[in-house]
Amino acid sequence: MNKWQEMYKEKLTTPSEIVKHFKSGDFCISNGQVTEPIAILDALADRAKQENLTGITHYNLLPLRQQKYMEPGMEKHIRHISLFVSGYDREPIWEGRADYLPSFYGSLPKMFQELFPAPDVFYCTVSPMDKHGYFSFGTAADLGELRRRAKKILLEVNPTMPRTHGQCFVHISEVTALIENNEPITEVPPPRISDKDKAIGGMIAEEIPNGATLQLGIGGIPNAVAGALLDKKDLGVHSEMFCDSMVDLYHAGVITNGCKKINKGKFVATFTFGARSTYDFIDDNPTVEFYPVDYVNDPYVIAQNDNVISINSCMEIDLFGQICSESIGPKNFSGIGGQLDFVRGAMASKGGKSFIAFSSTAKKDTISKIKPVLTTGAVVSTTRNDVDYVVTEYGIARLRGLTCSQRAKELIRLAHPKFREELTQAAKEMHIIP
Ligand code: COA
Repeated sequence: MNKWQEMYKEKLTTPSEIVKHFKSGDFCISNGQVTEPIAILDALADRAKQENLTGITHYNLLPLRQQKYMEPGMEKHIRHISLFVSGYDREPIWEGRADYLPSFYGSLPKMFQELFPAPDVFYCTVSPMDKHGYFSFGTAADLGELRRRAKKILLEVNPTMPRTHGQCFVHISEVTALIENNEPITEVPPPRISDKDKAIGGMIAEEIPNGATLQLGIGGIPNAVAGALLDKKDLGVHSEMFCDSMVDLYHAGVITNGCKKINKGKFVATFTFGARSTYDFIDDNPTVEFYPVDYVNDPYVIAQNDNVISINSCMEIDLFGQICSESIGPKNFSGIGGQLDFVRGAMASKGGKSFIAFSSTAKKDTISKIKPVLTTGAVVSTTRNDVDYVVTEYGIARLRGLTCSQRAKELIRLAHPKFREELTQAAKEMHIIP
């Protein structure tokens, strides 16, 4: 047994013991998504309830499973602050049992560093320790650097967590205590790709040159685009999310990362969630590197690659080109994540293009996602000054460089035919078009 293994043995404990490190009022933060430390949080929820610990805040980005700490009544013990709303914390937020903190994803580390006290606890799930004493953050390296200011670092070691490369390691000497959890990490089924998604994907694919560097966001459309890229060559990836579809494109010989100007030959991402086959692909794969989100999502870093193509989605857009991706009216639905980070990075990249792609309607064609003005309370995620390409199943338009009246006409062309007349009427009444 080497000295790191001895240290591991000394720090290894049980869930009920590790949660004795928490106290009322603690500020706790973890890496995002799949790396949320589920066994530690479950044990913490039990202890907090039994011993009436109160005022613990848990910051996390995009929880991917139901957990005890978010059950009704738990909020006085552990208050969840969401950094990107998902299907698992949407209702607690709507019911006032949790809260949402708006921020560009790439700006979160700086915000926490400058405006927040040192975290009492940094915790997350990691892959097993290597012979040099390092654990990999695995599927998310986003906020991992915040551990350097934390008073305590608690780890949940899981043998099913892939060991990713990049700037995503924590050493046993930094760790306060750890537990082991063998429950398989969360897999997320692939998004359903509709015929509309495929049509949209095909239009975007025509705009992507060989050698481009891709960012693909969450949802069916980004994945449909990937399906339409099989005849491209030498694509690269610099993307906050590493998607399942990127593995298929790699195996098809489409992604080589060979034309990238920075991190040449490497996939770069800050997180992934998806199929087990994706976790197996990134495991100990030196061509895949995970970095903190303030590196991956920094528009100046993104723009160092040429022909950056960013593909994201939204909830609605108005005739001025203002895009709401986060809310349905005033109700938080998701977060902005890195949408604007990548829109701006792509715009600053030589030959870069950004696409906001969405189905033209919601709720079985009863609601147009193209509106005269945004719904009252809807938040602007991507401003009209940032918007570049907009795509629906009815076509593609480059709004950048167009005047207000030209934009409105293009957006009406992209709307479902049954809404075009009322949109035209509204545009006239608002004096956008004559
Ligand atoms: N008005 C009313 N309802 C609307 C609506 C609108 N304008 N737009 C969508 N909806 C409804 C849909 O009908 C659907 O409801 P249902 O489930 O009852 O059918 C629901 O809202 C979700 O819409 P959908 O189009 O299925 O979106 P989604 O859940 O697949 O994804 C995101 C939403 C994530 C695409 C969107 O919130 C987003 O773009 N967020 C920004 C994220 C981002 O870009 N991050 C950077 C890259 S990771």
